[in-house]
Parts: sequence; C-alpha cells; structure tokens
Amino acid sequence: MVILSDWLAAQLDKASAEPVYRQLLQLMQQAILTGQLAPGTKLPSSRLLAGDLGIARNTVLHVYDQLSAEGYVLSSTGSGTYVADTRPDSAAVGARPDATTRAVPEPNPRGDMSMRGQRLIDEAGVSARQWGAFMPGVPDVAEFPSRTWSRLQSRLWKSVNPELLTYAPGGGYRPLRRALSDYLRVARSVRCSPDQIIITTGIHQSIDLAVRLLADIGDRAWVEEPCYWGARSVLQASGIKLAPIPVDNEGLNPRESDLRHPPRIALVTPSHQYPLGMVMSLARRRTLLEYARQHKVWIIEDDYDSEFRYGSRPLASLQGLDDSDRVIYVGSLGKLLFPGLRMGYMVVPERLVDVFRTGVSELYREGQLIQQAVLAEFIMDGYLTSHVRRMRTLYGERRQLLIDAVTQRFGDALPVMGDEAGLHFVLGLPDHCDDRVVTAASYEAGVIVRPLASYYLGKQQRKGLLTGYACVAQENIAPAFATLARVIEEHAFGPKSKPRTRERAA
Ligand SMILES: Cc1ncc(COP(=O)(O)O)c(C=O)c1O
Repeated sequence: MVILSDWLAAQLDKASAEPVYRQLLQLMQQAILTGQLAPGTKLPSSRLLAGDLGIARNTVLHVYDQLSAEGYVLSSTGSGTYVADTRPDSAAVGARPDATTRAVPEPNPRGDMSMRGQRLIDEAGVSARQWGAFMPGVPDVAEFPSRTWSRLQSRLWKSVNPELLTYAPGGGYRPLRRALSDYLRVARSVRCSPDQIIITTGIHQSIDLAVRLLADIGDRAWVEEPCYWGARSVLQASGIKLAPIPVDNEGLNPRESDLRHPPRIALVTPSHQYPLGMVMSLARRRTLLEYARQHKVWIIEDDYDSEFRYGSRPLASLQGLDDSDRVIYVGSLGKLLFPGLRMGYMVVPERLVDVFRTGVSELYREGQLIQQAVLAEFIMDGYLTSHVRRMRTLYGERRQLLIDAVTQRFGDALPVMGDEAGLHFVLGLPDHCDDRVVTAASYEAGVIVRPLASYYLGKQQRKGLLTGYACVAQENIAPAFATLARVIEEHAFGPKSKPRTRERAA
C-alpha cells in the first residue's frame, strides 16, 4: 500500500492543467494494465489514499467508482476494493511476447494494409491544399451568399421539426428532391420526377453507391483516359477493374477491341470531359446509349460543373436522351455552392428507386435533413439560380484575364485547352516537359496547379497543367500567373530563355 501511494504521489502533478481526478484515474488504470497492481490486490481505503496523497477523499471515491464501472476493480461493501483479473484469456489469444522479444513496429504501414488499400494510398490524388491560385475545380467560396444561408438556417432552427433531426430515409428531404428535379429538368434537360432523386454527400458517394449496387468485385468499368482520379479511386476501392478508353475531340472514343468486351459500367463526363474539357458529340452520345442498351452497360454520367459554360448555353445531359433507363446521373452542389457542404444528388431510373433508397440508408445512414431543408429553401427562393448566374459572369471574367495573361506571356507556344466551361482549363506544356516536376516547383513557389500526368491510367498522351481560375480574385491573377510563368519558363524553355511572345513564337 505504501508503495502504491508513494508511486502515485511521485507521479501526480497538482500544478498541471490536467485535473487530479483524471491523472489519478489514468495512473491507476496504467498500474492495473501493466500488472504493477496484480489481480486480487486490495486497494487502500479511499480515506487512507486521500490522506497519503493530500487530496480530497471524494476525488479518490470518484476514481474508485470509475475504475469499478470500467471493470478494473471489484468492490464489495464491507470487504474493500480489489484489482480485477482482466488478463486476456491465453487459450483464446495465445501467449503474449514479452517486452524483449516483441517485434519493433515497422515505421512503414504497408504491412498493415490490404492490397486495395495500398493501391488507393499509392495512387491518391488528393491535395493537402484546397484553396489558392490556381487550385483547379474549386469555386470561389468567399463569394457564397453566407448571410442568406445563415438567415434561412436560423429560421429553420427556430422552430425545428423533430423529423428534420432524424436519419433521412427515402432518398432525402422531399421538398429538396422536388426543387432539384425542377432545377435539373430546366437547367440540364434531365428527365426525372422528385422520386428518382437520391440525395448523397456528393459525387464520390453517388458513384460508390451505384457501383456497390450495380456491379460486383472483379467487374470492369470503362473510364475516360484521362479521367478524374477521385472517381477512379472510388471504383478501384470497390474492387472494379478499370479499362481506360481514349477520348478525342468528340469525347469517349472506344476502339474495336474495347467494344468487343462490354463493361458493366461506363463512367463518363459528357458535358465537359474531365480534365480535358471537350463535349461528347451527339453521335457519340447516341452510340454509347445504344451500346449500353444492347449490352446492359450501366452508364454513370458525372455532370460535375457544366452549369458554368461561357460562350453558349449549358448543354443538355446524356440522361435526357436515354430511352432505355441505362443512365445513372450524378451531380454535386460542391462546385455550384461550396465543396465543404458535401451534398450531391443522383437521378436513378424509376425501377431502381427503392433499391437506391434502401442502399443509401443501409450503407451510410444518411442524415443532414436540416441542411437539406436549408438548401431546398435556397433553391425555391431563387438563390441558387441567381448565385450560379453571378458566378458564371465572375468566373468568365477571371478565365478571360488568365487566358490573356497566358497569351501575353507565351503567345501560342502554350495552348489553352478546354476553356469553354467549368472552373479550370488545361495549359498545355511541350512534350519534353515533365508536368509533375513543374507542378512541384510551382507549389514550392506558392502556386497550386495539377499535372495532367496524374489523370492518366496508362501512358500519358499530353503534357499540361490543370489551372483553376474560379477561386482566384481578379487582382491576384496577374501576380500568381507571373510566378507560375517563371516556373514554366525555367522548365519548358530552359532557365535562361526569355518570355516568348506571340511575335517571337510566330
Ligand atoms: C469530374 C469530377 N467529378 C466529381 C468531383 C467531386 O464531386 P464531389 O465533391 O461532389 O464528390 C470532382 C471534383 O473535383 C470532379 O472533378
């Protein structure tokens, strides 16, 4: 007993910000787990221990109660408190190696991971920074009408209906599904009723759900080459084998050999190919739909940012042309409003509505009904359309500023590709240039871009940088581009070469 209280007295730090109760509890738990206090040992009475440690008896009583509630000790009225026997059952778990023979944990966690986990982490595309010039795919969240949102939100919270605080079975908040179906019919020519809409946390989750419900491990999916690394990762992590299909100016362009092996799933971005930016032609759309009908292929249409089209009106969706119910349409509020909202939607064929409603509940326990209710009001009151309209003008101006800066500095030595829509364009680099190296050097210099290389599954066909303009305030475009241009010049044209103007390049 004396030894225990001496040891505890030496460890307790009464001047620490950590309460004495918590310190004492942790010390006693540690003493029991390490065997310093053997099973069956009788603990000193609370009065004695409190006196030895110079602390309140109530503190010790609370600690003993907690130890008893967690199974570390057994107390019986009258006879005292004893350390419980909590040693693992050696018949069940085998002998534990002693401290001297225990393997030193490997610093590299690969051995802990599954094969698909290793692949996911090895090929991860996610960036540690998500904001700043020229982060692609990010809207200007500083322009989001947060006051309006907060007003709608506080009105809802003031008289909150308990139904809004539960899980959200049934595919999500009905008024939101109605508002979205109206919006999608008008803005994207999607053919749908509110029932066909399933609210998710975004396109990642929509793809994950579709793949789990419609494909089996080992099934094949066509993906565009190049394609969005995030969608690729979601498919691969579900055990789907990827078949990269080339794209040209008209979008997905399968070869004879591809057509001979129909996949289970085809994941496409027809309105704005990601990342190169072309539009799938009507002929290719019809061919893909017919092929899907004949071979029972599920088409996942990722329509992630096509509201932002600059020269012309937004283009109609592929889903709107589908007469055979082979298209699962997925969209996101991340680019329209702000990515951290984590809200998206999918439109599924009528006969699959119940399947997807049950699937989303079963796998993810959906919720956020209150956020969904705010969003429903935001859309119904017209704020979504006016925000999108305002952002389209703003992003259009920023895009033009950046294109002008590129042209002024490099003439047509560096092509700008896929700039008709979206939040980024691809700045082409000469073939001898390693876009990953340029990306790393520009990151060092304080400017974020993404290398085209990381979007190819097979051999890289073109060199380039995904350059986002939407989230960069006008006044920051020129200075940030000057930094990027210096890095590009050094790597693309040699450290000593001078800026190439249109005249020099011509
Ligand atoms: C083509 C494409 N699809 C989907 C997403 C992500 O969508 P969400 O944030 O809704 O999961 C992105 C994000 O950059 C994207 O570029």
